[in-house]
Amino acid sequence: MSELWLRSYTRSGVRVATAVLLAVTCGSLSVRASAQSPPVGNAKLGRVIGYTCLGCHGIKGYRNAYPDYAVPRLRGQHALYLVHALKEYRSGSRAYPTMHMQALSLSDQQIADVAAYLSGKPVAGAKPVALSKVPKAAQVCTSCHGSDGVGVSPMYPTLAGQHESYLIRALHEYQTGYRRNPIMHAIGISLTPAEIQVVAAYFSHLKPGLHTVPRADFRWSAKR
Ligand code: HEC
Ligand code: HEC
Repeated sequence: MSELWLRSYTRSGVRVATAVLLAVTCGSLSVRASAQSPPVGNAKLGRVIGYTCLGCHGIKGYRNAYPDYAVPRLRGQHALYLVHALKEYRSGSRAYPTMHMQALSLSDQQIADVAAYLSGKPVAGAKPVALSKVPKAAQVCTSCHGSDGVGVSPMYPTLAGQHESYLIRALHEYQTGYRRNPIMHAIGISLTPAEIQVVAAYFSHLKPGLHTVPRADFRWSAKR
């Protein structure tokens, strides 16, 4: 997969090659590490915890003020990735004060439960898009995030349908190192500002894609 990718993407060879090496090594390591007996999420229990989360993640187009960007869509995301993100917020290794407070009191089991609820059914990928139809700057991303924007493993987040402004913000954070991830830092620094716009526009417009968790989903199920 990475060989093919290397041949197809030659713009900034050395940095990109480093990124791939890191990516392949770290990617498989992290998948293996998190595969060790993770608690199985119970979506029904997660629904109760998830109610608070809908105050932001359940409102279509809800934006974070300062800096201004859309709160990420979670419905259809890989549950395992959400678990990983929540653990990082909890420990503070992904620095974001609001989400740190949200995750702080959650046990590993509660994190698994709320991730199972919020993610719901994972986005089913569209037909693979031919690499020649993918914008050049986004070709590098497809080995992990899929040409259809669906993460090829549960640790690679799905980008299809995610808010454009959130994708741009995330890429800037990887570039600056504020959001720490060796794979995405290496990839991020190889992108120009114009390329960031191109890749964010490409992935955010792909369908089927992620959704805002419907608030009605909660009310409907709470009545039963
Ligand atoms: C006050 C608004 C708010 C509330 C309430 C909130 N979130 Fe968030 N959440 C955000 C914002 C803003 C981000 C993006 C933060 C960043 O840039 O890292 C985020 C990011 C996330 C992410 C990372 C998504 C990704 O694609 O990486 C997860 C997972 C998440 N929230 C889950 C939850 C859960 C679970 C709860 C409830 C226990 C919750 N959130 C409550 C605003 C909120
Ligand atoms: C080798 C695998 C790999 C490649 C190639 C790759 N990514 Fe990623 N990407 C990841 C992983 C793993 C994460 C989760 C990192 C974390 O925990 O913060 C991620 C996270 C992201 C996120 C954050 C998503 C969210 O919900 O917060 C964005 C945006 C992103 N990648 C965009 C891209 C773009 C654009 C490219 C191509 C220019 C790309 N990635 C190439 C593996 C990869």
